[in-house]
Order: sequence, then structure tokens, then C-alpha cells
Amino acid sequence: MFFVPQQKWRRRVLAYKAIGYLPFAEKIMDVARLLTGTSRGQQGHPAPIRQMLQMLQRTDKSVKGKRILEIGAGWQPVVPALFYGMGAGSILMTDIVKHMRKSYVEATVRYCIDHAREIANLTSISQDDLELRWRKLLPGSGNWVKQWYDLGITYKAPFDMTTSKLPMASFDMIYSYSCMNYIPLLQLRKIFSESANLLDRSGWIAHNIHVYDDLSSSEREKWNFLRFSEKEWDRIGNCRLHYQNRLRPSSYTALAQENGFRVTYSEMLPLGLPKGSLDRAKLDEEFKYLPDEEILCGHFLLVAEKVSNSTTIP
Ligand SMILES: C[S@@+](CC[C@H](N)C(=O)[O-])C[C@H]1O[C@@H](n2cnc3c(N)ncnc32)[C@H](O)[C@@H]1O
Repeated sequence: MFFVPQQKWRRRVLAYKAIGYLPFAEKIMDVARLLTGTSRGQQGHPAPIRQMLQMLQRTDKSVKGKRILEIGAGWQPVVPALFYGMGAGSILMTDIVKHMRKSYVEATVRYCIDHAREIANLTSISQDDLELRWRKLLPGSGNWVKQWYDLGITYKAPFDMTTSKLPMASFDMIYSYSCMNYIPLLQLRKIFSESANLLDRSGWIAHNIHVYDDLSSSEREKWNFLRFSEKEWDRIGNCRLHYQNRLRPSSYTALAQENGFRVTYSEMLPLGLPKGSLDRAKLDEEFKYLPDEEILCGHFLLVAEKVSNSTTIP
């Protein structure tokens, strides 16, 4: 008889595993997301905008005229649109899977235009300037990828950041939003090393990393995946279509430092759980003795400047 697990997160993993066996699994997932509207609706945009701006402001950085690369651009180009509005020089949006489509791009740009006043208040750019730039990004009747390319925003997917084959020292900023946590540690090491190579002198990385368990449907148990040993989690929680590395904030800081970056700003945004939500007895040995803020972190914001060439993985 077919075994249906009780916990919702386990059923989700089973579904990912089953779909993962099918041909064109990624395409099937994208259609499912399109139908269910889970490729981040409009209400999902304020956090990326606010938090990415916060990272720039806390480090006194500007994207104006800068050559920027994004890792894991996803479905809706809200951060690239934001940076374009703020005068970025060029933006290369990359992803291991091609997810973007014209309807998402259009919805994202319309969101930016509709919220231009609020976004202007968060930046030092006037509402008029933002709107002017964003109107250029609204996809016309032709190919949006070509239209954006002509404006300085390139979309490359599928693209493997571990072996980018891009010229060295050709970027000023490399960033990601909700991506690093989905990448296995071995690949992450190469990505941090590659980032050090691709950044020009004084270039910087800015990663907004979601370090909670996104499979857990219970808000109180967003740390659920830390109950398991690495081996057990790889068996029951990870699969080709949905992988979470469970790295804690200090591991990302170490990755940056090992690859010649100096951390200029980091912040652990808490999950905001009521006191007593964490039951340490339930945690795996690997996590049990970590400070609360490492375990109960929702988003980890990390900005680091390149200070020397990578000395780790070639
Ligand atoms: C949750 S989505 C976030 C997308 C986008 N940054 C956003 O905030 O809407 C995670 C993205 O990371 C991408 N991704 C996963 N593993 C990756 C890897 N090894 N290299 C680059 N991108 C990856 C996925 O394809 C997906 O687009």
C-alpha cells in the first residue's frame, strides 16, 4: 500500500521527489507555480526591496554606474528592476534554471511603477526618475530579453556560477536574494571563490540568505530541518528539485572570509517566534549548542568587500 506521511512538509518532499523523476521536471514545477501563483506574488516584493536597500545603506554603497551580477535571479526580477531604477550601469541576471517569462517581468515592472512613490521614499532617487526608467523596462510586443539587453540588463539561464567563464575583475557587485541557502556547500565554496575572481578591486558581495526551513508549514517550526543529522536530512528532506543546505549564518561569514572577503555588514533577522518556541532537546547534535540567534534566524544579510584574491579552491 502507498505510504502517505502525516506531516505536510514530508508530503511536499514526496511530491518533489516524484516530480523529479519525470522528464522536464523543472518545467512542470514552473507550470505548477504559474497555476498556483507561488512564484512570489506582488505582496512578496517589499521584503527584497527594503532589505536589499538596507544592505546598501548600512555599507554606504551605491549601485549607480556599477557592473552588477545576480546569482539565482528566479522568476520575478524585482531587485534588478530596483537597481536599474537606481542607475545601475549594467546587470547580469543569472540562474541555474531558466524561470523568467514575459508575464512575470511585466507584473514586476508594473509593481515597481505602481509603488514608485514608496520606493522613492526609501531611496535618494526621485519618483519621476524611477518611473521614467521603469517605463523603459515594460515589455513591448517583441522579445523582452532583447529589449532588456539593449538597456544593459542581460538574462543568462541556465548559467553555472561555479564555472562562469566570465572575464576576471569584470563586476563591482555580486548579489543574491533567497538563493545561497538552496546551494550545496561544495558548490557554494566554488561560487564564493569565483565571485572573488569576478569582482574588481573593492568589489563587494551582498547576499540575502533565507536560512529557515521553507518546507515547514508551521511558523513556529521554521527550524524544523535542524532536528536531523546531515545524512538523515539528505535522505528525507533533500532531493534534486528542492535542496536546502541548512548552513547557519556563521558558515556564510566563514565562506566569505576564507575567500578573501572582509565582512562590512551582517545582520541576523530573527524569525520572530514567541519565546519558548525553540525546543533544544529536539535539535541534532550539530546545531544543539549554537547560540539562539543562529538557530532562530530567518534572513541573514551579508555584505563583504574583496580585499585579496581567492586563496582556496582554484
Ligand atoms: C527562491 S528562488 C529566488 C529567486 C529570486 N532571487 C527571488 O528572490 O525571487 C531561488 C533561485 O535560486 C536558483 N538556484 C538554485 N540553485 C542554484 C545554483 N546552484 N546556482 C544558481 N542559482 C540557483 C533557483 O533556480 C531559483 O531561481
